[in-house]
Amino acid sequence: MTEPVPVIAIDGPSASGKGTVASRVARALGWHYLDSGALYRLVALAARRAAVGLEDEAGLAALATDLAAEFAGNEVFLDRREVGRELRGEDISAAASRLAAIGAVRCALLDRQRAFRRPPGLVAEGRDMGSVVFPDARTKVFLVASPESRACRRHKQLMEKGLPANMDDLLQELRERDARDAARVHAPLRKCSDAVLLDTTEMTIEDAVAFVLTLAKGNQPRSTAEGGAGPQAGAA
Ligand code: DC
Repeated sequence: MTEPVPVIAIDGPSASGKGTVASRVARALGWHYLDSGALYRLVALAARRAAVGLEDEAGLAALATDLAAEFAGNEVFLDRREVGRELRGEDISAAASRLAAIGAVRCALLDRQRAFRRPPGLVAEGRDMGSVVFPDARTKVFLVASPESRACRRHKQLMEKGLPANMDDLLQELRERDARDAARVHAPLRKCSDAVLLDTTEMTIEDAVAFVLTLAKGNQPRSTAEGGAGPQAGAA
């Protein structure tokens, strides 16, 4: 029997570092990478452009179904225009969090996310990678960090991109977004029972990447594993 294409699912709240960790793990393994949050952000941007309101569930689901999105390396395109920087603005973050609560939007994005699962493997990051999109993922990580350290990282990211940022506002927005992502009915942000908890508050990116790589190596099928135990710290 052929093995399914392996998936490493990394879920967690915004600015927990999962994007950086997931993309570096993907690069280290030579696997594909899915930033599922970017899809929700793209729907938010498409809605703004088409003047579709956040209360128009059918209109948003239609936009999600027809989304003309493309990913190439670190670049993201909507209708053939590069929009990576635009997607990171706080207004788009807030809108994405709101429309991500709509079941029809989530449903419309499901197959598009699953299409990223191609050989030799996929590292997927988001809120429901391990719970809904790839429940059979071989490796599942729930990555967290304190709200203060996440706000600090987000502040740094925004400043580096030349975008306006205020620490107090960021902290408040993060808390609001966490509450909304965790309280929603459809695919709420929650650690799956089979996910390993990784708290990166006091960790470097390199340590977090090494942790996930070691964990994934320990989860390989016997026929392909080179041996070696999984990580010792941080598992729950
Ligand atoms: O990871 P991010 O901050 O780019 O995600 C933007 C929003 O999209 C976030 O508020 C929650 C939502 N999201 C989601 O509901 N499910 C996912 N798999 C990824 C993101």
